[in-house]
Amino acid sequence: MKSFNWKVIHDREHDYDSTSKTTPIYQTSSFSFTDLHDLEGFFQPENNRYMYSRYGNPNPDQLARKVSELEGAPAGVATSSGMSAILSGVLAVVRPGESVLIPEDVYGGTYDLFQQFFQDWQVDVHTVSFADLAEVEKKITQKTSLVYTESVTNPLLRVEEIEAVVKIAHKRSIPVMVDNTFATPYFSQPYKFGADLVVHSATKYIGGHSDVTAGVLVGERTLVEEAKRKAIQLGMNVSPFEAWLTVRGLKTLSVRMEKQSANAKAIADFLNDQPGVNVYYPKNLATHGNGAMVSFELDKRYDIHKFFEQLEWVKIVPTLAGVETTVSYPLKTSHRSIPPHMQKKLGITAGLIRLSVGLEDETDITDELQSALEEAAEKKFPE
Ligand SMILES: Cc1ncc(COP(=O)(O)O)c(C=O)c1O
Repeated sequence: MKSFNWKVIHDREHDYDSTSKTTPIYQTSSFSFTDLHDLEGFFQPENNRYMYSRYGNPNPDQLARKVSELEGAPAGVATSSGMSAILSGVLAVVRPGESVLIPEDVYGGTYDLFQQFFQDWQVDVHTVSFADLAEVEKKITQKTSLVYTESVTNPLLRVEEIEAVVKIAHKRSIPVMVDNTFATPYFSQPYKFGADLVVHSATKYIGGHSDVTAGVLVGERTLVEEAKRKAIQLGMNVSPFEAWLTVRGLKTLSVRMEKQSANAKAIADFLNDQPGVNVYYPKNLATHGNGAMVSFELDKRYDIHKFFEQLEWVKIVPTLAGVETTVSYPLKTSHRSIPPHMQKKLGITAGLIRLSVGLEDETDITDELQSALEEAAEKKFPE
C-alpha cells in the first residue's frame, strides 16, 4: 500500500506514453479510429478508449483519478470549476419536488446555486446552523434527499463533525455531500468518514498556484457515474491543459500544506498576542496540522481601511490557496449578498479579515501584518 505522499506525486495508471516522464497534454477535442470495428470498440463496456474530449480525455481523467486516490474514494470526475463539480453532484442525487439541507454559513456561490438555481427547479432548500446537530436532525423531512456541508467553513473556519452528520443522514438513507476545498485531502478525507460525495474547488489548494479554474467530484461509483453523465450532457468538462496544470500543481500538495499550515499556526499565535485581535483558526482538523487559512477580527481601535492600505506585498484578492499570502475582506466580497442580520448572526463583521497563508517565511508575513496593524491602530472604524 503506497503512502499519501507517494500518491500525490505518482500515478499508478500513467501508461499513456511510457517514455514520457510526465503525462503529455492531450490538447485535442477528439480522437480518431482506424476502422468501423475500432469505432465500435469505443461503445463496448469496459473500454478504456477516448472519442471526444467532452466525454473524456486522459488529462481530466488523470486529475479525477488522483484526487479519488487521495480521498480514498472509488471514482471521480474532473470538471470546469468547483461550482460545476458541485452542480454535477447535486444533479446526480436530487430531483424536483425533493429538498436539501445546507449550512447557513455555506460558501456564497453554493448558497446562490441552491437558493436561486435549485429553488427555480422546484427543489426546496433548507438552511440550518450545522454547529447545532440537533437542529440539523430536526430539519430533516420525508422530502430531504441530500445533506450538504463543508469540512471547514468559510470564513470562520469551523471544523465540521462529518461522522456525526453522516450518522444523522444515513439513519434515514439520505446521502451526504461534503465540500472539502479548505481542508484538502491532506488534512481531511470525508469519504473515509462516510460521506457519499466529496467535492473540491481544485482552483484552490489542489491546483495551488492560482492559475487554473477546475473542480473535482469523488465518491460512490454509481453517484459519480451519474454526475459524470450530467457533466457530459451539460458540457461541464475541464480542458486538457487546465487539468494538466492542476495535476502539476497537485504534485506538491503535501509539502505546500505542511509549510503553509506551519506558517498559519505561527501567524495565528502571533495574532493572538496582538491587542484587540480575535483569531479564528481551526482546531483538531488533523494530527499533522490545521490548514493554511486564518481569519481574524480587529476591534474598534483599528481603522480597517488603513490596515488594507498599509499592506505592502500581501495582495487583496477574493480567493485563496495560492503559494503567496493573500488577504480578503468577507463582508464586501464572499458574503456581500447576505442580508445584514445574517451577516451579524454568522459573525461577518466590519472588522473581519481572512488570510490565506502562503509559502513565504513566517517572519515575512508577521512583519507585514505587524506594520499594517501598527499603522491602523488607535483609529476609529468608519460607520
Ligand atoms: C469552499 C468553496 N467551494 C466551492 C467554490 C467554487 O469554486 P470555483 O470558483 O472553482 O467554481 C469556492 C470558491 O471560492 C469555495 O471557496
